[in-house]
Amino acid sequence: MNQDEENQIYEQKLQAAFGSAAGFQAHLAASGAGIRFTGIDLCRPLEDAQVSFLLDALSKYRIVCLAGQDLDRFTLAGFERFANHWGAPIPHPNNFTRGGKPAQQDGASDGPIELIPYAERTAAAVDKTFPGQLRCLSHESPTVLVTSNFRGDVKDAETRVTAGGSWHTDIEYETLPIYVSMFLAHRSPLSRNAPGGTWVPESAAETPHPYYEGSSKELMRLRLQLPLNGETAFADTAAAFEALPAEEQRDLEVRQLRRRLNEGDEGWLAPLVRTNPRSGIKSFHSPIWASRPKVRPAVEVDGMTPEESRAVLDRLEAHILQPQFRYDHLHVPGDVTIWDNFMTLHNSPPVKSNITSIEDARLLYRLSCKGQPCLALPRKDDPAWLEAHVAGGYRTPLEMLDT
Ligand SMILES: [Fe+2]
Repeated sequence: MNQDEENQIYEQKLQAAFGSAAGFQAHLAASGAGIRFTGIDLCRPLEDAQVSFLLDALSKYRIVCLAGQDLDRFTLAGFERFANHWGAPIPHPNNFTRGGKPAQQDGASDGPIELIPYAERTAAAVDKTFPGQLRCLSHESPTVLVTSNFRGDVKDAETRVTAGGSWHTDIEYETLPIYVSMFLAHRSPLSRNAPGGTWVPESAAETPHPYYEGSSKELMRLRLQLPLNGETAFADTAAAFEALPAEEQRDLEVRQLRRRLNEGDEGWLAPLVRTNPRSGIKSFHSPIWASRPKVRPAVEVDGMTPEESRAVLDRLEAHILQPQFRYDHLHVPGDVTIWDNFMTLHNSPPVKSNITSIEDARLLYRLSCKGQPCLALPRKDDPAWLEAHVAGGYRTPLEMLDT
């Protein structure tokens, strides 16, 4: 079957599930990753067959974009309902404290949590920046992380450029890692007034970065090559695995990484390579020596010294960050973009901060899920499982599922 015939069959299946208005554009990335669907309205609850179709799409394409949600009708409650199909949505550490301490800090990772009042969360500050022009979608769920490059009044400040982050996957430092994360885009930067016609200048790569000293020049160059228009940077760890010689694949497949939540913990072993249960595709999960420098301990390859671990993982990171496995995803307002954290790495781009023009505003909402997908809602997660793996044992309130 050639590509055209394959596309035709896929389109028939898509339209059988979602109706004749549904369309797709596949292989957004040169590596083969990424699919963008149009004509799928997430305001409506999904049927089992529709959920199943989307789960299959993610297991194959690693990154799935459901374009064009109507932000006048779609709510963050609807977004959280949608997330429930992928896994149990987890409260974001920025939205709660534990024993009065910020949840991202060193410390306990279980036990009761205190939700930070809405007025003290990013969403409330965001609303003050462009009054009458831009407000966060209303919603007080602790699972939604508001990602923005503005937080309140900045009248006299000068616009700056803030460097991107470090390559990572979401919450890989817990025994049950997040497997799916998703963004709903509300606003993307429109200005392109940096030299070279981009949003931020190329020199953003020279601003201070979070990495430890001691990696090779080439790895640092690859790490800092980040998109300049506010895109989320992805690396396809399935294609990167696939590209290695069979012998190296076999060697890496049996490797385990010792992960630790906090320095001094004994930690636990987690596989370096995972097999997607739906598609059978193999990929690296968070194959990074220190993906959260100075926040979480570096990982060790089981049976290796810390120095050997770093050498092996830095080499792997340099392999994965090569341009042929990279994809910069432009967020268009109304797009929901989902990625599989077991099959990708991602990074935040350099952004303008202290902005005074709404043309520079970047506003996204993020949700992340753990555990198994679920066709029909509500989810039936065991309370003991929730208690063990989801902060505060959180579950989406039933009234939100009825939205
Ligand atoms: Fe992330």
